[in-house]
Amino acid sequence: MKITELKLKNFRNAENEILTFSQDTNLIWGKNAEGKTNVIEAIYYFANSKSFRTSRDSDLIMFGENEATLTALFEDGGKICRYEIKISKNEKRSFYYNNIKISKMSDFFGNFRAVLFVPEHLRIVKNGPGERRSLIDGALCQLKRTYISDLYKYSKVASEKNAVLKDYKDCLETNALLDVYDDTLIEIGAKITKTRREYTKMLFERAKKHIYDMSGDELEYEFKMSGFSSNEDETEFYRRIIPETRKKDVIYKSMTAGCQRDDFEIKLNGIPLRQYGSQGQQRSVVIALKLAEGEIAEETKKSSPIYLFDDILSELDEKRREYLLKRLDGKQVIITSCLGSEEKIYSGKRIYVEKGKYIEGENEY
Ligand SMILES: Nc1ncnc2c1ncn2[C@@H]1O[C@H](COP(=O)(O)OP(=O)(O)OP(=O)(O)O)[C@@H](O)[C@H]1O
Ligand SMILES: [Mg+2]
Repeated sequence: MKITELKLKNFRNAENEILTFSQDTNLIWGKNAEGKTNVIEAIYYFANSKSFRTSRDSDLIMFGENEATLTALFEDGGKICRYEIKISKNEKRSFYYNNIKISKMSDFFGNFRAVLFVPEHLRIVKNGPGERRSLIDGALCQLKRTYISDLYKYSKVASEKNAVLKDYKDCLETNALLDVYDDTLIEIGAKITKTRREYTKMLFERAKKHIYDMSGDELEYEFKMSGFSSNEDETEFYRRIIPETRKKDVIYKSMTAGCQRDDFEIKLNGIPLRQYGSQGQQRSVVIALKLAEGEIAEETKKSSPIYLFDDILSELDEKRREYLLKRLDGKQVIITSCLGSEEKIYSGKRIYVEKGKYIEGENEY
């Protein structure tokens, strides 16, 4: 798929802007704080229904305004599609896909697919498990519609259970209520973990090849259910571990086991990357994972996602940059950078941004 046009109305510092994109590489360049990342943020919203920088939609609305509108025109499988999102201070946000209002969020996911690569991802190996899970979850939401509703259901029941644990009284009634929550958490948690486990396997199978091509290193990983290494079936595992940790949950006043603790450990040539990896090795692994994420999305949806790279080229050395961009030849990539003409792009378009105004130019910049 390819995005052809993006319209921003009162989005961050863009008052009324129309950007058109090349089917290949698009470089959005300009000084700091002019509005480069804002474009990546807006486009990614169509893929994930949220910003990757803030959890408050109102932050996205231009200061002093009440509503922001984002409109994207894109081509997917030979069809022209239109997506419109209205974010309001006073009303619920609304989504329109090909002019029809989307009423269920599960109908939102998967229509527009993007692979996001931001500098924070370069630290994914060293960061906490939450960041690693969100890398997997962000990709899965775009591929599997039931996945997002499972995540919602799980987190709702988990917070209800945590509320009971907070005011826990050891009585028949409370324990029976916790048992009811556990049944749901075991069932949905097992589904979520199974999906993550299968996806991680596919992801690393592909990433392994990229690492080998890039540096000759052997990439391995280990998936950890609820933080534990185990080959057990997911349902059996949770059926065992969730009731087992009840006493601990009561002491900590919150759930200590479940899919909210899933994680994976990455190794390079048998050595754990988290403790011993060099910065370059970690970067290579993230590049490999991002390329793998795009390949899986393309195979699953039969069309390539859009690649959104926010300020990451300056973080990579020549060899890694070349590797990444060459692999994406022919795909649509949107890159932001402080560099203009010095930034090497193979083909496509350059868009200059100053104070939220976007000025299009061709390669001669
Ligand atoms: N709600 C808002 N209303 C108006 N302006 C906003 C709003 N939110 C952010 N901004 C402005 O948008 C600009 C930041 O845009 P953006 O993050 O895209 O910058 P950037 O070009 O990526 O910068 P950098 O190179 O530092 O990453 C800042 O000038 C900020 O004040
Ligand atoms: Mg930026």
